Amino acid sequence: MAKPLTDEPVLEISGLRKRFGALVATDNVSLTLRPGEIHALIGPNGAGKSTLIKQITGEIRPDAGTIRFDGQVIDRLDGAARARLGLARSFQVSSIIPDFSVLQNVMLAVAGADGHVFRFFRPALADDALTAPALYHIAHAGLEDRAHSPAAELSHGERRKLEIAMALALRPRAFLLDEPMAGMGAEGGRQLTAILSALKSDAPILLVEHDMDAVFALADRISVLVYGQIIAQGSVAEIRSDPQVRASYLGEEA
Ligand SMILES: Nc1ncnc2c1ncn2[C@@H]1O[C@H](COP(=O)(O)OP(=O)(O)OP(=O)(O)O)[C@@H](O)[C@H]1O
Ligand SMILES: [Mg+2]
Repeated sequence: MAKPLTDEPVLEISGLRKRFGALVATDNVSLTLRPGEIHALIGPNGAGKSTLIKQITGEIRPDAGTIRFDGQVIDRLDGAARARLGLARSFQVSSIIPDFSVLQNVMLAVAGADGHVFRFFRPALADDALTAPALYHIAHAGLEDRAHSPAAELSHGERRKLEIAMALALRPRAFLLDEPMAGMGAEGGRQLTAILSALKSDAPILLVEHDMDAVFALADRISVLVYGQIIAQGSVAEIRSDPQVRASYLGEEA
């Protein structure tokens, strides 16, 4: 039976395998990321979550398996080419310029996304064609009251919002987030939870996160990774009540 187009996965990983010497860090992993969803990847320390994410971004080359993105096999593409296709890796946008305002930083991201190669910042920063989309992304990330503040003056949580605005400027087709809540504190975590649940309609999110409150609040689907293998996949309710998951990961937490 033909599926509606909107159900086609944006990201489809099949049979991914990665060894580090004797250690099988990713053991025949398959999963999909569908439009509009947050798919959480949980599991104990050393389960292979970051290794999996790095194979999707192109930082680590798998030994076997295939990754499709937007219907295209991307196995042979390097990280930069994958990013250009719209695979947005975390919010660790390394290029925040502390002395520039929030607006100026996002304008540079917009310019970069449009493929502008510019040698001088000033003309680019006076460009109305960049201001409008930049302000739009800033508002979307919930940072409009800080648009004219230097990035250096932002709190940790506000900086995350700036990173989100900059990520949005790249017009991502999918987000890969490895522990975005880490170090955010309770209030920052709550804010980021709200932002992520809004962001997923822009682009689906593959979310690695240890904060189970956040995962249970946000995830549409959860995959549980243990020793490189997915041992369970399902809704929040299914994962919370799965005896094997409770035994091997959630323990007393659930
Ligand atoms: N470059 C590497 N070389 C050798 N071993 C590695 C390498 N990267 C990761 N590993 C090992 O692979 C396993 C999976 O590591 P990974 O960082 O993917 O786990 P993780 O699930 O992200 O853990 P955490 O929750 O602590 O972030 C670990 O045993 C780790 O020591
Ligand atoms: Mg990790």
